[in-house]
Amino acid sequence: MEKPLLNVRDLRVAFPTPTGYVEAVRGVNFSLARSEVMSLVGESGSGKSITMRAVMGLLPPTALVTGSVKFDGRELLGVPESEMRRVRGAKMSMVFQDPLTALNPVLTAGEQVVEAIRIHHPEVSSKTAREMAIELFRSVAIPYAEKRVDQYPHEFSGGMRQRVVIAIAIANRPDVIIADEPTTALDVTVQAQVLELLRDLCDKNRTGLVLITHDLGVVAGMAENVSVMYAGSIVEQAPVDELFEGARHPYTRGLLGALPQITGEISRLNDIGGTPPTAATIPVGCAFNPRCVFADELCREVKPELRSFNGGEVACHYAHTLPAHELQGEFA
Ligand SMILES: Nc1ncnc2c1ncn2[C@@H]1O[C@H](COP(=O)(O)OP(=O)(O)O)[C@@H](O)[C@H]1O
Ligand code: SF4
Ligand SMILES: [Mg+2]
Repeated sequence: MEKPLLNVRDLRVAFPTPTGYVEAVRGVNFSLARSEVMSLVGESGSGKSITMRAVMGLLPPTALVTGSVKFDGRELLGVPESEMRRVRGAKMSMVFQDPLTALNPVLTAGEQVVEAIRIHHPEVSSKTAREMAIELFRSVAIPYAEKRVDQYPHEFSGGMRQRVVIAIAIANRPDVIIADEPTTALDVTVQAQVLELLRDLCDKNRTGLVLITHDLGVVAGMAENVSVMYAGSIVEQAPVDELFEGARHPYTRGLLGALPQITGEISRLNDIGGTPPTAATIPVGCAFNPRCVFADELCREVKPELRSFNGGEVACHYAHTLPAHELQGEFA
């Protein structure tokens, strides 16, 4: 694999509350190479979006962000907003969950693509940028591209709107795209099409893709590497096949056990008992301990660090002793 384009070390994000700071991201490490597709998976509230907003410099100024985010060897944390603006959209861009809120309702779809191009390349004429917009619409498979560029966001279906957002995200050929649950708001039938489009475009342009999702089913067909997040920390990292075949962290196993079975059986959907903590209520020790049937004194006192294991990394005191494949009956 090539040297990482994006290298995130000990990333921490804390928010002020009336009772002091609460940490929503607690020491995240990951890297992403050119052309790599990495998925960040975890239940809602685990810190996925905050992690990636911190990487993009998109958090409110009250958020306390520490650690290191290196892009192509250059530190991004702490650089002035004016410089981050040059990075965002040109080097790294983001696709959000809801395309309607990502788009400006009073500008045509084409105008928004033109704007995205000309912010970073003011030397490009409006006419050329418009031609580029039409070409981009074609590349994201929007039919009748010449006509569609002059339409407003409300004239597009949800799936087509997300294609417009993707056209904007790829307009300047970024090296990295971060897609935060990009298909969650779409009909199931168009979800797969939009994901495939995103993956194919990244593959063609050799763009690194971070795909955030709460759905491990999405990960299987899309990603090469997976990072599983729980309560602000990554608890397991592995190549996708290894994760599906031999997940070691009890939380990952719970997520895998919670996947609907091919037989149509959905009785295992609630396999992980209990609910995840919020940033303000993360337990001491292993954050997963109140929900883990293997938890003991050590788990309740000491937070396990990520350690190399089987081609991946796991943060569990007992990862080495838990059987690899016994997914049944572990969760109350
Ligand atoms: N502005 C904020 N102030 C305080 N806490 C926040 C703020 N934004 C998010 N959080 C907390 O950070 C945690 C992680 O949120 P988020 O990254 O949005 O989760 P995910 O994307 O995994 O669903 C949540 O517990 C949430 O309550
Ligand atoms: S460290 Fe302990 S509580 Fe945490 S996942 Fe491993 S066994 Fe369970
Ligand atoms: Mg989120």
